[in-house]
Amino acid sequence: MSIKIQPEAIASLRGFEIPERLGFGTVMAPVMFRARYQDGRWSDGELLPYGPLALDPAAKVLHYAQTCFEGLKAYRCGADVALFRPERNAARMAHSARRLCMPPVPEALFMDAVRTIAAYCANLVPGNSGESLYIRPFLMGTQPDLSVTASRAYEFYVIASPSEAYHSGNMRLWVEREDSRAAVGGTGDSKVGGNYAASLLSIARLKERGYDQSLWLSPGNRHTIDELSGMNFFAVMDGALHTPALNGSILEGVTRDSLLTLARDQGIEVHEREMDIDDLLALVASGTCSEVFACGTAAIVSPVSELGDGESRYKLKQAPGPVADQLRRALLDIQEGRAEDRYGWMQKV
Ligand code: COI
Repeated sequence: MSIKIQPEAIASLRGFEIPERLGFGTVMAPVMFRARYQDGRWSDGELLPYGPLALDPAAKVLHYAQTCFEGLKAYRCGADVALFRPERNAARMAHSARRLCMPPVPEALFMDAVRTIAAYCANLVPGNSGESLYIRPFLMGTQPDLSVTASRAYEFYVIASPSEAYHSGNMRLWVEREDSRAAVGGTGDSKVGGNYAASLLSIARLKERGYDQSLWLSPGNRHTIDELSGMNFFAVMDGALHTPALNGSILEGVTRDSLLTLARDQGIEVHEREMDIDDLLALVASGTCSEVFACGTAAIVSPVSELGDGESRYKLKQAPGPVADQLRRALLDIQEGRAEDRYGWMQKV
């Protein structure tokens, strides 16, 4: 498969400078990657100037949400630019695509796309620790047709954003007891826009109360912990690390998996299990649960300082706590090239 680099894309990169204050996902790189799928075949990829998309108003994605996405990062890793575990994102995107009856983006096309974006945007990868080029691949059904059937035409894009971590500082979590986000057998373990849309009302409600993120419970039993809206959940009890086991309604986070690997290798006891919310709150109140943190590609590792449940508030003893801090540093040391990459996680572009 060849990739066409449009001269306009090169021109748009010339003279583009990243601002000093980045935030997360608001500064966009001036190029994007596109490949199209039609009649059972993928086109070659193209690097284009970043810009609005032309979509037919009857495109399936706009009505039936036939779309999935990924998030991964390119880091300034010593003297190189390197992607962190991109093959995991390729595999997860294929899983999400299959769930929504879309043709999976072939791994080779996915890798070519993210490598092309990272290579052409190498100068836009910020250099401060915790900053990176956040890369957002997405796939959508574009066939104009209002019948509820799978699209026959698709577009795959990759955009990128020089970014800081999604959350800086401590987070306050709100235990969401009313709404559910995604179910087992539904799209809970797929990275699809609908899951995020379903979380927005909860986020709006909790912001009014001064919280940052919803803590979602399992929709089946409504008392075991699933995850946050865009992050996985961890707690530290008596020095051991606990996280909800993958159960079909939790997204299999690449950062989650990486932290579990690092923790095991550092001799930290790890438990992947069902975690009851009432037990957890009691353990926070008694001080047995000393740390809670969330993790994700965008968020890295974000300590939690407080859990809110109705009128009750539960403050964490340590935020940031030593375990979150140690794992965050170990992960960033590999991603930013200060520690040996024993796992082969970094891929130079
Ligand atoms: C990521 O960490 O890549 C995510 O998808 C979270 C994002 C929705 C902010």
